[in-house]
Amino acid sequence: LEPLELVDQLVRHMPPSPRPSDPSSPSLPASMPEASSRFGPREPAGSGGRALAGQKVVITAGPTREAIDPVRFISNRSSGRMGYALAEAACEAGAEVVLISGPTALPAPKGVTRIDVETALQMRAAVLEQMPCDLFIATAAVADYRAAEPAPGKIKKSADELELRLVKNPDILSEVASRDPHTEGRPFTVGFAAETDHVLEHARDKLVRKRLDMIAANRVGEGLAFDQPDNALTVLWPGGQAELPKADKRLLARQLIELIAQRIDQRA
Ligand code: CTP
Repeated sequence: LEPLELVDQLVRHMPPSPRPSDPSSPSLPASMPEASSRFGPREPAGSGGRALAGQKVVITAGPTREAIDPVRFISNRSSGRMGYALAEAACEAGAEVVLISGPTALPAPKGVTRIDVETALQMRAAVLEQMPCDLFIATAAVADYRAAEPAPGKIKKSADELELRLVKNPDILSEVASRDPHTEGRPFTVGFAAETDHVLEHARDKLVRKRLDMIAANRVGEGLAFDQPDNALTVLWPGGQAELPKADKRLLARQLIELIAQRIDQRA
């Protein structure tokens, strides 16, 4: 699919240097009345409390790396910041937190158990090993595809064109959301949707298709979300939505954890 030179370039350019945030970020649609009074720019009052006391929370974060050969891999621009911030916020809210992380430059938040993985298959195995749990949040930018046959030795350049065959990775989020609540234990399951266009439409579709309890959608692209310190989210669940306006990812994480805790309470 990809000439090796392109892949080579891709790999050499990772991780990318952070870009300045784009002041012309498209604004997201207005909040639903239900949420607008609570989720403004202020700090949420409940996040310092113990909204998730005693709950086991599993969070995936960061990119995955899929080997092409021993020195090259396929990956993406995820910094892991959102997942790490959520792990910290869930811990502050009283949860026992396991953070399953692809390669990032971030330190594990205090009090959080971090399990390091590289590939999507390793991430899936690590997640399933942590089941059952009360809450699962998938922020990882899992590579959708991996090389069908990673080369055992470094691929040398010779031919002008090189084809790389890719196979689909398992969808970890869907798999967790499909667990049988009676026999397997199904957590409250939250996904993320990073979209360049038709953000709400794609997010709503993912919420239904992956059978999620909640999805946090954000617009990505030039200077937006990926590898940036701040972000804005539109949070959707069956029958409702809320806007979390652009803020530092740690503040946003506390607001999202509070919203998740409220939804868990309302469903109980
Ligand atoms: N996810 C996952 N396992 C995968 C792929 C994605 O757990 N193999 C999770 C991500 O952590 C995120 C959500 O699913 O919470 C993203 O959904 P996905 O449909 O994979 O997003 P895209 O790859 O952007 O989908 P599409 O190609 O349809 O835009």
